[in-house]
Amino acid sequence: MTAVSNIPTAYPVPLHWDGEALDIIDQRALPQAERRLRLNTCADVADAIRALAIRGAPLLGIAAAYGLVLAAREGKLAQGGALLRAARPTAVNLPRTIDRCVAVVAASTDSPEATLLAEAQRLVNVEVNASDGITRHGASLLACARTIMTVCNTGALGTGHRGTALGIIIRLAETGPVTAICCETRPLLQGARLSSWELSRHGVAATVIVDSAAAALMRTLPIDAVVVGCDRLAANGDLINKIGTYGIALAAAAHGIPFIAAVTRSSIDAATPSGDDVEIEQRDPGEVLDLVPGVAALPGVTALNPAFDVTPARLITAVVTEAGVVRHASDPRTARLSETTDRA
Ligand code: MRU
Repeated sequence: MTAVSNIPTAYPVPLHWDGEALDIIDQRALPQAERRLRLNTCADVADAIRALAIRGAPLLGIAAAYGLVLAAREGKLAQGGALLRAARPTAVNLPRTIDRCVAVVAASTDSPEATLLAEAQRLVNVEVNASDGITRHGASLLACARTIMTVCNTGALGTGHRGTALGIIIRLAETGPVTAICCETRPLLQGARLSSWELSRHGVAATVIVDSAAAALMRTLPIDAVVVGCDRLAANGDLINKIGTYGIALAAAAHGIPFIAAVTRSSIDAATPSGDDVEIEQRDPGEVLDLVPGVAALPGVTALNPAFDVTPARLITAVVTEAGVVRHASDPRTARLSETTDRA
């Protein structure tokens, strides 16, 4: 990935175009091993997306753009687009990038491969700027919040740059001590494995909790805010994000804790009326049943494994994008955000 700013090296680089192929960190192996994979074909990219070796909505868009470069080289652009589109259904970044890339190729007189490479690099710059803007606006909104709960991984690993929700926490930590309460994020543990790893690279205190402890800890800990990322924001403001987000939003509302959604504009989907219109990815039940070696459920036991959920707009205190902050004026917790700020 071509960096366009002087970002500190503590931020991992989850993917990088080496001139011939896509070089990625295999996020399945983190934090035990920093294993890299070289993706040489569009099918390799689709497989890596499906398996969550590459993940996080903005990064899915960037990976798809480079996947199409490989598809163009193979002379299979249409097939490559279909393969990538089917890899994961929920984040809008994937179909949006593919649609845009197809349109850009149709309008270009240059070769598809060269056109798509330029488009992929343009998208990287868009996401770099989005991360910069979101983390700046978010850190200013939460200027005096010191204990913040988050879910899944929304850092550099999910965006290619500073991140969204996790990026805000890391940026805030540059101004004073911050404790990040990371929900472990079952079943694939993006919070326990990836967010804690990213935070430790920045020297930020990470406390991992089991997802089911979130509500109980809101009663007993001085949690100033919850900040989460986004796979898709529907036209009515409904937030589609990692499974568990809805429950955390309900608990935050019950405890008067501000609930902030950090959303890149590339994940806003004005064409989809509400969260109910979004396909929620259903993953392999084995991810739920076989998580702990030797403690699997009995053969024949089934599981449901939705990867995302819908948080209704009314539960969200504020949405932070790279363009600024939109507060829900009727949410009484907006006052608590300024109270938090006044405690400075
Ligand atoms: O299944 P994942 O790990 O791709 O889910 C990721 C999330 O839910 C993130 O919150 C979202 O993509 C935003 S990443 C900045």
